[in-house]
Amino acid sequence: MRLYRLPTTNGIDDLTLLEEAPPVPGRGQVLVRMRAAALNYRDLMVATGRFSQGAAPTALIPMSDGAGEVAAIGDGVDRVAVGDRVAPTFMQAWLGGPLQARYNVTALGGNLDGVLAEYRVLDQDGVVHIPAALSFEEAATLPCAALTAWNALFGDRVLKPGETVLALGTGGVSIFAIQFARMAGAKAIVTSSSDAKLERAMALGATAGVNYARHPEWQDEVLALTGGEGVDFVVEVGGAGTLQRAAQAARFGGMIGMIGSSFAAGLVDPAPIMRKGLALRGIRIGSRDMFEAMNRAVAVHGLRPVIDTVFPFTEAKAAYRHLESQKHLGKVVIAID
Ligand SMILES: NC(=O)c1ccc[n+]([C@@H]2O[C@H](COP(=O)([O-])OP(=O)(O)OC[C@H]3O[C@@H](n4cnc5c(N)ncnc54)[C@H](OP(=O)(O)O)[C@@H]3O)[C@@H](O)[C@H]2O)c1
Repeated sequence: MRLYRLPTTNGIDDLTLLEEAPPVPGRGQVLVRMRAAALNYRDLMVATGRFSQGAAPTALIPMSDGAGEVAAIGDGVDRVAVGDRVAPTFMQAWLGGPLQARYNVTALGGNLDGVLAEYRVLDQDGVVHIPAALSFEEAATLPCAALTAWNALFGDRVLKPGETVLALGTGGVSIFAIQFARMAGAKAIVTSSSDAKLERAMALGATAGVNYARHPEWQDEVLALTGGEGVDFVVEVGGAGTLQRAAQAARFGGMIGMIGSSFAAGLVDPAPIMRKGLALRGIRIGSRDMFEAMNRAVAVHGLRPVIDTVFPFTEAKAAYRHLESQKHLGKVVIAID
């Protein structure tokens, strides 16, 4: 089988295409023929040595998100059958309940080998069935980006019809947040550095857009769009450099899903968070239970993930570079054909 490994993490050029014998599933394990993998910002961080959450294997198989079909099962497997269409869970050990430290170190494409391979063996508990209507490319986008947005909006306090969500930027997580907000009957305000991307985000369901490059004080625009009230939920993918403004854009008693930490450095004044009684909730992807709940909602509402570009397997480096360029909107996918 063909697969990619990262012998070192000095950059995208380290991605190495190899031939190896396919793995064999043991007891309780499934062999998945991967059909597609989807990139996340984190995959860039892993490839460039900017990501460390516990130990990682040497010569890691990169990328956490993918979808494929079960090609073989080991003894004792009863959750899936040969031919089932599945996706791996991001954190293999987080099945449900609150996040625990021991789950956090079972992330694919980081602590454990990932999915950029024709075949992967996974524990049967570490896969979920994918919605029937989705292609493998579409379903590959669900394990991290979609689930993170889902967790931010439904994982604790649940987004209600008529409320307003603020999504920062037009990357993978934020576009899912817009789609989930619309699915829930809520409004979605999106920010972007690009007017063309804002137009596309509006066509996908965003109710208003603010160009954060042209409006450095974009929180004032967001407040104006909500009649001065502020938004109910913020999907905060920026980090310290955006959190201050995100807090100003939130309504009293609003909820900020703290997702990103890497785009912009800055200092955060905690006073507005306290004064407005904001809930600041750290989001770390989501559990398998959340993934299955999200998939049910995706199926019922006919939600289709937004794919920017699909690259062939042999052009994985070009896919990484496309994500790095930040020209994309939604998801960048690699077909494993
Ligand atoms: N905690 C978790 O569980 C979790 C899960 C997933 C992702 N994340 C993190 O969330 C972030 C987004 O991930 P992703 O995969 O969605 O990334 P992505 O697809 O690469 O999207 C990044 C987008 O963010 C926008 N952006 C960049 N700098 C910005 C800034 N200063 N202010 C506002 N928007 C900015 C850009 O949108 P425009 O081009 O429209 O300006 C860019 O396209 C990353 O930091 C990632 O590590 C965390």
